[in-house]
Amino acid sequence: MDGGRPRWTAARLQPVMSTRLATPADAAAIARIYNEGIEDRSATFETRPRTPDDVLAWFDGIHPIVVAERDGAVIAFAETTAYRQRECYAGVAEFGVYVAREHRGQGVGREVMEALIAAAESAGLWKLLSRAFVENAASRRLLARVGFREVGVYRRHARLDGRWRDVVIVERLLGGAASGEARESREARRPTAGGGPDTPREPHATHGTSRTRPKARRSST
Ligand SMILES: CC(C)(COP(=O)(O)OP(=O)(O)OC[C@H]1O[C@@H](n2cnc3c(N)ncnc32)[C@H](O)[C@@H]1OP(=O)(O)O)[C@@H](O)C(=O)NCCC(=O)NCCS
Repeated sequence: MDGGRPRWTAARLQPVMSTRLATPADAAAIARIYNEGIEDRSATFETRPRTPDDVLAWFDGIHPIVVAERDGAVIAFAETTAYRQRECYAGVAEFGVYVAREHRGQGVGREVMEALIAAAESAGLWKLLSRAFVENAASRRLLARVGFREVGVYRRHARLDGRWRDVVIVERLLGGAASGEARESREARRPTAGGGPDTPREPHATHGTSRTRPKARRSST
């Protein structure tokens, strides 16, 4: 996230791309980009096109949504949504990322995912997860680039247009959960430095403990 500050090319002094938190005014642009992803049949099991009103319901005041803009137009979005209703999972969110067709393969996905990760950390989330079709090379590469781990493959997870599809589960720890894991693995490699089996492993949950949690919405895969 760069706070909406545009970056400039040295050569043309043109705004290249900027990212910011989405607002309900972005719902129509987000729906248009999401519907391209649905039509492509390469990103999601969803087949029903979404309306701007459908997208408005994504804004729950808890889970961040970010957009990327170029020349004042929204060209990509990345969104989070509740993972489960159980309180213990309040800091875990599902995510999805979609770039408008004509802007793919130009680094936009990476920028918007980095913005989403920053926004999710600011919101107090401790993990993002999703699933990608095993054939979705662009998504798998992008997610590896921004620090996601491939957990494993769900075989025949659902059918798209009548055909069974396998999906790769991906996850990325955020904020204190990520740095805590790195510290604990360092300590585990130094047996005299403490960090034994009784060391608490759970991050402090500060997110979503006193608010009504929204229903989980599956917009990714
Ligand atoms: C997947 C998607 C979000 C990636 O965004 P993008 O802007 O096209 O990707 P970027 O240009 O930021 O590239 C990120 C990385 O993926 C690689 N990549 C991009 N397109 C690729 C492709 N078609 N095949 C293989 N790798 C690809 C890039 O080379 C880059 O890796 P590198 O840093 O090692 O060079 C975008 O292509 C998209 O919206 N696709 C349709 C919707 C979708 O699949 N969403 C994901 C649902 S899980």
